[in-house]
Amino acid sequence: MSLLFIAPGRDLSSWEDAIHRVDSNIEIDIWPAIEDKDRVQFAVCWNHPQHLLDSFPNLKAVSSLGAGADHLISDKSLPESIDICRVVSPSLVQQMKEYILAAILNIQRNFVHYIRQNDQRKWQPHNHPSPKELQVGIMGLGELGKPTAKQLAELGYQVSGWSRSAKEIENINTFAGEDELVQFLESTHILICLLPLTDETKGILNLNIFKQMDDHGWIINAARGEHLVDEDLIYALDSNILQGAWLDVFSEEPLPDKHAFWNRDNVIVTPHIASITKPDEIANQIVENYKRALSGMELNYTIDREKGY
Ligand code: NAP
Ligand code: GLV
Repeated sequence: MSLLFIAPGRDLSSWEDAIHRVDSNIEIDIWPAIEDKDRVQFAVCWNHPQHLLDSFPNLKAVSSLGAGADHLISDKSLPESIDICRVVSPSLVQQMKEYILAAILNIQRNFVHYIRQNDQRKWQPHNHPSPKELQVGIMGLGELGKPTAKQLAELGYQVSGWSRSAKEIENINTFAGEDELVQFLESTHILICLLPLTDETKGILNLNIFKQMDDHGWIINAARGEHLVDEDLIYALDSNILQGAWLDVFSEEPLPDKHAFWNRDNVIVTPHIASITKPDEIANQIVENYKRALSGMELNYTIDREKGY
């Protein structure tokens, strides 16, 4: 029996060490060096080559190495019988809260402009709104979105949230489903995407949505690049429908050299670092799910293939 890691381009030695600190008896393979395909029963994947997982005849379950499992769901070669799970951890939540708060403060307090002004030796103060004058709308109220929304509300921002199913969260104005999307967007000045990538949410950050927001607002995308229609964002920025965009994720990563998002005053690019899975923080979860899979138990943090997340 072995636990297989597949994450092209990543140095997985720290993962192997972290798993062995939890249980030194677990045999680990790191793709593409696999001793015996028949022995692989559990795979942990990040951007694995599609159509690879169906070549392990005894595979029982796969885990995403991160919070999102869209790369697994979209692999149509993954047999239906194989369970899919992901990781959930306080560290991922904390990092996302920090990332979103940093972005909001930079936008609210105009640091995005002051940093550019430094380059020009320009001394020009700008007015800024107080948190209670700023309407922040969060798309996705799951493991990451809900605590992020709560933190912002505690700091005094006007926070609204949008999810698939209706929710009640103290001090958050909540909306659910397509029917309430327009209402959710109406007064949103900073729109944050923390949705999973599914057939329904792909391309959701588009011109139609931007036009329904408060004039001259911002978007922050820390979910997946494919949520955003790049051309619509450029149009919205150039025609002043939006004031700026803070982006951590892109349809193509690394963001290509010639991409229109580089070198724009009103687009902040970060290299998919909002919330990073750290080996020692989730090795326990991986080992637990590996053992559950071997003994035929239900996995923790499973993905519902129907819903897509
Ligand atoms: P999650 O716990 O699965 O929560 C997803 C939320 O989105 C839920 O509230 C869900 O509604 C809502 N949702 C799903 N489909 C929807 C739809 N069609 N309409 C409206 N709401 C919808 O996910 P999570 O752990 O918070 O993570 C969200 C995403 O963040 C991940 O999938 C990943 O892509 C991204 N991420 C990025 C980074 C980074 O470093 N940039 C790090 C970690 C994660 P219900 O509550 O009603 O189900
Ligand atoms: C990162 O993007 C993740 O899904 O954990």
